[in-house]
Amino acid sequence: MTKRYIVGNWKMNTTHDDAVALAESSADAAMQVNGSVDVGICPPFPWLVPVSHVVFDDSLRIGAQDCAATDEGAYTGDVSASMLSGICDFTLIGHSERRLHHGETDAVVQKKIEQAIKARLDVILCVGETTGERESGSAERVVQRQLDDALLSFDGDDAPRLTIAYEPVWAIGTGIAATGHDASGMATMIREDLKRRFGFLNGTVRILYGGSANERNAASFLAASNVDGLLVGSASLSPESFGAMIVAAK
Ligand code: PGA
Repeated sequence: MTKRYIVGNWKMNTTHDDAVALAESSADAAMQVNGSVDVGICPPFPWLVPVSHVVFDDSLRIGAQDCAATDEGAYTGDVSASMLSGICDFTLIGHSERRLHHGETDAVVQKKIEQAIKARLDVILCVGETTGERESGSAERVVQRQLDDALLSFDGDDAPRLTIAYEPVWAIGTGIAATGHDASGMATMIREDLKRRFGFLNGTVRILYGGSANERNAASFLAASNVDGLLVGSASLSPESFGAMIVAAK
C-alpha cells in the first residue's frame, strides 16, 4: 500500500515562536507513528530556516508554500526554488489562493513546477474546481485542464517527486468539506490521468485531499479509494488536531 502523506499548510499564520513550537509538536506526532506515515509542514517563508533548525531527523518534511516561476532577477518579493532547496524538501505549487489572489495561471504553475524540479524540490501540485464550476458540471474538465497545462513538460522520470492535492476551492477554509465520495471520485479521475501520462510510474504519485479536513472527518477521506493523504490548512495550526490526523493515517 502507498505510504500515507499528511501535510500541514500554515498559510500566513504563526509568529516565530508559534512556528517553532508547532514544528516541534508536529515532529513529535510524526515520531509517534514511527515513519509509517510521511508528514510535512509548510511554514511561511521567514520561518523555514528556524523551523529547519528544530527538525533534526527525517520524521518531518519541510515544504515551502510557493516558489517563483523564474530562477533569479528583478522579481521583487519572489523566492526562487533554488533559494529554497537545501532548506526545504518540497514546495506547494498552484494553491487556489495563489491562483485567486495573485492571478496565477496554469502557464505560471507549469513554469513553477519546472523550476522546482530543476532545483531538486519535490512538488505538491494543487488542483480543484470552484463552486460555479462544480454546479455547472465542469469540475472534472477543469481539473483535467489544470493537470494538462501544469504537467505539459513534466518528465515521467520525475513522477516519484510529484504529489497531486485535489482541493475543491469551495471546501477550502469554509468548514464545508467535500465528502469521501466526492474526493474519491476526483482522485480516481486523477489516477486514471496519471496512468495515461506516466504508465507504471503513476503508482508512485500520491493524491491528497484538501479542504476543511480535520480530525473528525480525516478517517472518511483516508478510507476513500485513491486518496493517499491530506493537505490540511487551519487544522494543522492545532497540535492536537494535526497530531490526531497523523495518527488516523497510520
Ligand atoms: P483548510 O485549507 O484546511 O483550512 O480548508 C486547506 C488548504 O488550503 O490547503
